[in-house]
Amino acid sequence: MSKLSTQRLTKAFSGLVAVNDVSFNMEEGEILGIIGPNGAGKTTFIHLVSGILMPTSGTITFKDKDITYAPAHLRSRMGIARTYQLIHPLENLKVVENVMIGSVFSRGKSLREARRLAHEICAELGLEGLERDTTQLSILEIKKMEIARALANEPEVMFLDEVMAGLNSDETRQMIATIQRIATERRMAVGVVEHVMGVIRELTQRVIVLEAGELIAEGPYETVSRNPRVIEAYLGGAA
Ligand SMILES: Nc1ncnc2c1ncn2[C@@H]1O[C@H](COP(=O)(O)OP(=O)(O)OP(=O)(O)O)[C@@H](O)[C@H]1O
Ligand SMILES: [Mg+2]
Repeated sequence: MSKLSTQRLTKAFSGLVAVNDVSFNMEEGEILGIIGPNGAGKTTFIHLVSGILMPTSGTITFKDKDITYAPAHLRSRMGIARTYQLIHPLENLKVVENVMIGSVFSRGKSLREARRLAHEICAELGLEGLERDTTQLSILEIKKMEIARALANEPEVMFLDEVMAGLNSDETRQMIATIQRIATERRMAVGVVEHVMGVIRELTQRVIVLEAGELIAEGPYETVSRNPRVIEAYLGGAA
């Protein structure tokens, strides 16, 4: 079943068209890769579907509902969550409090229930020491906390914007396994933006490729990675 889709979605910033006429679809339980060169529009696309930015034209559909202009807090309540490429932990709060925010403000949970849920999610991610200040966390722990914050919204669709960036190969492997397990257990659709193609190959069932805001290819990584246009636009340079 289609969870989230866009129809001819476009976002222009004055002269620059950052997302251009993109139609895509995400299915329940699917891990979808979103790849493309720097500035291709990947983060802008996530901003549009999560409601941080409003589109110039086109539509966004979540479970058959038109959510094109729904505010971000409503979308997170409906079940769309995302992490941020530029992370923004609230440094005067503890780890556990950072994770609780989503379920208190977006889901309306009591503090007690939000705390219980935060502990449960962090245990699932292998994130310990929840009473620490966020300034004490390693990069891996910060990335896990960002995912925990998204999961605290109890999403049906989640976007991860470069959560592996800065991790070493062991940590990356651990993160891949964690994301796969979570997606399967929760039957969640997960959109993954990554520049490391080994991660995309291992983690995703399907990939969309953006270049200068346009969707130029779509399919399993093995197919897309042989597409001459993709090689020219992205993989040639990345290799
Ligand atoms: N708020 C904004 N105002 C003007 N231009 C913007 C804004 N946000 C993004 N852009 C431009 O839109 C284009 C797409 O940017 P975006 O951040 O979505 O790319 P990206 O694919 O996520 O890149 P990266 O891989 O480097 O993270 C870029 O040219 C960027 O400079
Ligand atoms: Mg980006």
